[in-house]
Amino acid sequence: MQQHRIPARITSFVIAVLFILTCATLRAEEFSVLVQEEFNESMGGTVVAGSAQAEHIVGDVSYIALSERENNWDGLDILFEENFMEIDNDYRLTITVSVDEGVEVPEGSELWVQIPAGSYPLLQQASLVSGESLTISADFEWIDEEFGQFRIQTNEIGEQVPFNVLSYVIEQGAPVVSEAPVEEEPAGGSEEVTPTHEDVLTPEKVPTETPALLLSETWLDFEDGTTQGFEGRGGVELLEVIEGINHTEGGSYSLHTSQREAEWQGPALTITELVTVGQEYEMSAWIKTDSEEAITVQLSTQIGEGSSASYQNLSSVTLSAADDWVQVVGSYRYDTDGGGYIALYFESPLVEANFYIDDVSIRAYETPEVEVDVELMPIKELYAEHFLIGNAISSFELEGLMLDHLKHHHNLVTAENGMKPEALYDQDRNFNFAGADYLVDTALAEGFKVHGHVLVWHAQSPEWLWLDDEGEPLSREEALSNMETHIRTVMEHFGDKIMSWDVVNEALDGSFANPENWQSSLRESGWKTAIGDDFIYQAFRIAREVADDNGWDEMTLIYNDYNDDQQSKARTMYHMIKDINEQYREETGEDRPLISEVGMQAHYNLNTLPENVEASIELFRDLDIKIAVTELDVTTLTRNTYVQEELDRQALLYAKLFDIYKANSDIISRVTFWGINDAKSWRSDRYPLVFDGNLQTKSSYYAIIDTEAYLAEHDDQVEVIKAEAKANFGTPELGEAVDPMWDEQETISVSKYQSAWEGATAEARTLWDDEYLYVLMNVSDSVLDKSAEADHEQDSIEVFINETNEQELSYIEGTGQYRVNYDNEASFNPGSVDEGFVSFTTLSEDGYTVQIAIPWKTITPESGMVIGFDLQVNDAEGGSRIAVAAWNDQTGQGWQNPSVFGELQLAD
Ligand code: XIL
Repeated sequence: MQQHRIPARITSFVIAVLFILTCATLRAEEFSVLVQEEFNESMGGTVVAGSAQAEHIVGDVSYIALSERENNWDGLDILFEENFMEIDNDYRLTITVSVDEGVEVPEGSELWVQIPAGSYPLLQQASLVSGESLTISADFEWIDEEFGQFRIQTNEIGEQVPFNVLSYVIEQGAPVVSEAPVEEEPAGGSEEVTPTHEDVLTPEKVPTETPALLLSETWLDFEDGTTQGFEGRGGVELLEVIEGINHTEGGSYSLHTSQREAEWQGPALTITELVTVGQEYEMSAWIKTDSEEAITVQLSTQIGEGSSASYQNLSSVTLSAADDWVQVVGSYRYDTDGGGYIALYFESPLVEANFYIDDVSIRAYETPEVEVDVELMPIKELYAEHFLIGNAISSFELEGLMLDHLKHHHNLVTAENGMKPEALYDQDRNFNFAGADYLVDTALAEGFKVHGHVLVWHAQSPEWLWLDDEGEPLSREEALSNMETHIRTVMEHFGDKIMSWDVVNEALDGSFANPENWQSSLRESGWKTAIGDDFIYQAFRIAREVADDNGWDEMTLIYNDYNDDQQSKARTMYHMIKDINEQYREETGEDRPLISEVGMQAHYNLNTLPENVEASIELFRDLDIKIAVTELDVTTLTRNTYVQEELDRQALLYAKLFDIYKANSDIISRVTFWGINDAKSWRSDRYPLVFDGNLQTKSSYYAIIDTEAYLAEHDDQVEVIKAEAKANFGTPELGEAVDPMWDEQETISVSKYQSAWEGATAEARTLWDDEYLYVLMNVSDSVLDKSAEADHEQDSIEVFINETNEQELSYIEGTGQYRVNYDNEASFNPGSVDEGFVSFTTLSEDGYTVQIAIPWKTITPESGMVIGFDLQVNDAEGGSRIAVAAWNDQTGQGWQNPSVFGELQLAD
């Protein structure tokens, strides 16, 4: 056995004790060293046990210092598998432990080596003495699968004694009977090296990922019958510790939450004291519900309080009573102490959702130190000649690491939430600018420009702005007056510290069936209901007046909206802005535009077609105003898992987007990312940004800093092969019975999933005559659900037709989307294609059957003609769409872009 050097501060002698333990009969006679760990590089194959604090000290002598012990089991676990132990072998563990001088050690305190499972066998024990170190060994035969670690702890008398673990050695017993041929040593002999934890990795044992080391753990199981610090976030929730519904092994309690009144309400735990800045935490909890309907429960963290607070969703689970207990796990690295407030909480988008939680754990793992790579090409410098580069932030990101990163790559910030109407008032409807002032002033002092988000919006705004105390809409005058007070007070408060404002956000919503009549696509928002269709014009008029009154000639006033790549929506935005600017010109005789920029939020995903983005930019160019890309992110498809192929597609899309932005930089003022990195994104489960959770570059970063090179290397330019099918000429009888002539038609399979989840599929057949195209679809779908409000979220089928088969990027005459749910309720896009449409549905053994006749609109069909055509099956469950299968299109863009359809030939 090797000599162990003792820390200098420990002056006394070493007691070496060797006990042979009785817990299992040992077969081995000779032992050879498997692992020798002296903690010079890491904590080796150990993790902290219980709630002790572990500090890894590296020096002449390295060791793990265990302090703040409260229980006898607070100590260090030496993990079997991480130390390459295998079941059915004999082992000898030798550990060296010391107690610092001056530490109070109660009489009778003992160090224990125990197995924390089964009957908790005690393998070894020895007295602890202040200022002394001791080395003990224990022999052990691993036969019980349940066992997974040695625990270095104390007896109860010594439960508060801090101690240091200096080293451990694990030796493996040689098999007793050895008839194996003796391997010859290679010529030249071999140097005998005692392996350490780092270098005993044989190929088959190399872990794919080095397990992070557990530093501390906090465990809440409600077994003491209290809520253990959990409180209702909204103050109205009922939190009850329930006996008899339990997840804890051997326990009997859990915490139930009911009477929630808002989505964000639920049990919350303040964890400020637990959190160390820069440290990553893994939070886990077990959730259960009595609800028959599926509910979603989110695990989230709040950083900071009041108007500076930022909220991060960490993970979520969807469950119903049938599921029993379901685990939710998420992790987060805190880069700030949130001004002294950090909480963990559970919420649900369904206000009526009640749920139990149990066995909540908060684990700190050894976190690699994160650094800002200052060698990286700053994005803002690369695009300095083209446009500003911005990001969305909370106040807490204006410090430390995040600030360094922000400054390196950006020259502008937007408050992600901190300047929204709801963040600027207190409970008594008085303005409170404290949080926003801090953000704006700090950002300016750090050299950023600041964009103002947002003045008039239907969301994240106090409803009293447009509703009276009875919940009824205010009169037009009252609501207008509230709007004017809000816009004027806020703009004048910040003055020209703010270079541009989102004056109105997201006013459009609907089918966009008639872009010129944009009024028909206005969202039914509180502002619109109280004021009327001109609320947008009024908001801009007021903002412009405030700017003029104060001489802020350069102030940019923006209309901001999402789904800007959808051509029908982009056209609706275009007409709205055009009309409003014309109205202003006519009324005032002024030449400058009232709305001076159009904000493309640019919340995209992997299926977004860059051609559509480009088409929107081209369209907006005609408005003669500038464009700001205000909230850019590109989500992947698979939640909570990095999928390499998806990250590659993401990078390619980022490259194409920045290529388009560069080509149009004469009218693009800025590009703002919505979030600093994947971990901080509002859509963190789908990794939408260009830096990962540790601020490391993703391929997307390289794609945007050299778009040409990236595209040259990666744009495979694969020609998309469209699915092809033939429809025979014939007129089937539609109705309850299925016309036998369908049987003679070729089937086409609607089974290419657009979704990660695989659900319902269909077999389809087609026919045509001079008046109609006919489609029959047999859908296999075991559970039928049409409870969702949105038509496409119900169990339904869709038929897409593009009569001319021109490869247009948006719907034109003769293009239509026809949807029928299993209950024969039809919906159309655009709404006007409903004329003459006929459908029947019948339920079948394993789903439902749909028969459809779609009248021709613009063509006189002839044999040999090819039309654009596609089919889709929407699979719903628990009130939302869980899977989508199509015949041809895999992008999911068919609802707005007919170029993604397959082709159907009209045959004889
Ligand atoms: C989002 C924020 O990112 C989230 O933190 C918040 O919970 C909800 O709002 N369009 C907008 C932004 O204009 O304000 C939204 O920001 C994203 C969509």
